[in-house]
Amino acid sequence: MARIPREIIDEIRSRCDIEDVVGSYVSLKRAGSNIKGLCPFHSEKTPSMVVYPSSQSFYCFGCGAGGDVVTFTMKYHNLDYMGAIEYLASRAGISLPQSFEEEDRGVPRKRVYELNLAAARYMRECLFDPQIGGEAMRYLHEERKLSIATIKHFGLGFAPNHPFLMLQHLRGLGFTDDEMRAGYIEAISTKTQKPYSIFRNRVMFPIIDTSGNVIAFGGRVMDDSKPKYLNSSDTPAFKKSRNLFALNFAKGNCAERMILCEGYMDVIALHAAGYPFAVATLGTAITSEQARLMTKYTKQVIITYDSDEAGQKATDRAMKILGEVGMDVRVLSMSGAKDPDEYIKKYGAGQFTKLIDESRRGFYYKMNVILAGHDVNIADEKIRAADEISTVIAEFESGVEREVYTDAAAKNLNIPHDVLKNDVERKRKRRIRSEKSKEAQDARMSARGIGDKVNPDAARYFAANVAEETILGLLLEFPEHRAAVVSGKVELAADDFVTALGRRIFEATMELEGSEGGFDYALMGESFTPDEMGRMQKMMRMRRELSENGLPVLIDSIERLKAEGEKAKAKSSGDRLAAIEARRRELAKKKEENT
Ligand code: UTP
Ligand code: MN
Repeated sequence: MARIPREIIDEIRSRCDIEDVVGSYVSLKRAGSNIKGLCPFHSEKTPSMVVYPSSQSFYCFGCGAGGDVVTFTMKYHNLDYMGAIEYLASRAGISLPQSFEEEDRGVPRKRVYELNLAAARYMRECLFDPQIGGEAMRYLHEERKLSIATIKHFGLGFAPNHPFLMLQHLRGLGFTDDEMRAGYIEAISTKTQKPYSIFRNRVMFPIIDTSGNVIAFGGRVMDDSKPKYLNSSDTPAFKKSRNLFALNFAKGNCAERMILCEGYMDVIALHAAGYPFAVATLGTAITSEQARLMTKYTKQVIITYDSDEAGQKATDRAMKILGEVGMDVRVLSMSGAKDPDEYIKKYGAGQFTKLIDESRRGFYYKMNVILAGHDVNIADEKIRAADEISTVIAEFESGVEREVYTDAAAKNLNIPHDVLKNDVERKRKRRIRSEKSKEAQDARMSARGIGDKVNPDAARYFAANVAEETILGLLLEFPEHRAAVVSGKVELAADDFVTALGRRIFEATMELEGSEGGFDYALMGESFTPDEMGRMQKMMRMRRELSENGLPVLIDSIERLKAEGEKAKAKSSGDRLAAIEARRRELAKKKEENT
C-alpha cells in the first residue's frame, strides 16, 4: 500500500475542495451545516447526496455512494485510482513526479497517445500509398463517395493486410511490444505465441478526444466479412463508454444542438454535408456517462438512429438516458433511407435540414410510433392506443408537459381532453405509489443485508456484520481506538472478522496506522473500490451521528463479533458436514441403481 506519496494526496486534498469538485458537476444547496444535491450516481428527483465540508467527504442516502474527493472523481469519470489522482492533480495544477506516473501504471496514458498518433500517421500514409492502400482509397473515395478533403479532415487510414508490418514500423520508432499490447495495437497469437497486428486490411477511423489526442480506432472491412467494424478495447488511454466519435470536431459547433447517430459513416457524411455537430457512440449503446458528457457541450440532442427495428429500440433507450440527465431530446424521422449517410446521398444535403427542423420532441415520436401501431377507427384499438399513450404521458414530471401532451394526444385520438387527463393522473399516482413501496422494500432488504453487492457476506452473517460495522466505524473515525488495538489494550485480530470485506478494511486500517505518518482515510482509496469507500463512509457517519462512541462500545462490539464468529464457524462446519452427508447419500443411491 501507499505507493502514492502522502504529500501528493495532501496537496490534492488541500487544493481540490470537495465542495468545489462536486459542485462543478452537481448543483449544490446549503442545508444547515451540510450541503445537498442530486446524486449523480443514481437517478433521483429529490436530493439525497450530502457533502460534508468538515470531513471533506460525501455520502448518498439513496444509493450508498460515498467517499472523499478521489472516490467521487473515480466514480464520476469512471477512472481507476491512479487516473483520478492524475485528473485531480491536473485540475489543481499540481505536477506529478514522472517516476510516479511510470511506476504506477504499466504503460502511462501519455505513451499510449504517442503510440496511437504514430499508428494513425502510419495508416494514413498507407492509405495514400497506391501500392498498399489503392483498394482502400478506391473504397472510401469512389464507393463511399468521400472527398479527399474529408478523408484528410478525419485522418482516415488503412491498416495493411499483413500480420506485423505495422508493428515493425512502430518498433522502429521506439515503441515496445508491451506498449503496443497495452494500446490495443498488438495481440499475441494463442496458436503460435507470436505477436500480430490487431487491425488488418481495414479502413481506419481514428477516435480523437477533445484535447486532440488519438485515443482509439475503429476499423471497417471493405467487403461483407465479419465483424464489419472492429473497435479498440479499453486501454489506459480510452474508455468506450466515456467518449464520442467526432466530438473533437463537434465541440465548437454544437452549442445549440448536437446530432447523435449510430455509425462512423453517418457522422462523416453529415460533417461533409455541412452538419459539423454530429457525433456517434463507439460501437455500443449510449451510456449515461456519454449523456452527461453531452450536457457539457450542448442543450439539445437530435437522435438520428437507423430506421430499422434495432434503431427504434436504441432510440427508446437513448431517449430515456438523455432524458435522465435533463437533456432536451428530439428524434428525427427519416423515410426512404436507412440512415443519414444513405439519406444525404439519395436526397442531397439540403433536405436534411428540413428533417432537423421537423425533428420532434421525444413524446411526439413515441406517440406516432403508438398511433402507427393501431388502427384507431376500431374501438378496441383506439382504447389500447389511448392506454399506451396515457402511460407515456404519466411518466413526465412536469405538469405543463403532461397538459400539452394530453392535449395533443386527445386531438389525435379524437377523445375529450378531460377523459384522457383523468387516465394520465390516475396512472401517475399509481406509479408514484409503487415507486415509494419499492423504495421501502429496498430499504428493508438492505437493512437485512440482502442484495448487498458491496459486502456479499453481510446477509449470511447479519449479526456479525452489524458488530463489524460498529467496530470499523469506531476505528476509522477515532485515533484513540486504533491506538487501543495497537497497544493490545483491546484484543482484536484480523481473524476475528467474519466477512471478507470487514477483514480487509481492518487489515488495511491497521497497516496504515503502523506506517510512518499514521492512518489516513484518503490513503485507503488505493486499495478499495469506490463502493467500498462508500461503505466505510457510512460506517464513519453512523458513529459521528451517535454520541456513544467510548471504549465500552468498542469492547462490547468486539465481544459480540467474537461470539458471532464462533457461530459462523459452527455454521460453516455444519454446512460442510451436511455436504458430506448429501454426497454420501448420493453415492449410496448410485450404487443401489447399479446393482
Ligand atoms: P451499422 O452496421 O449501421 O454501420 O453500425 P454503419 O455505420 O452504417 O456503416 P456502413 O455505412 O455500413 O459502413 C452502426 C455502428 O455500430 C458499430 C459501429 O460503430 C458502426 O458505425 N458496429 C457495427 C460495430 O462496432 N461493429 C460491427 O460489427 C457493426
Ligand atoms: Mn448504419
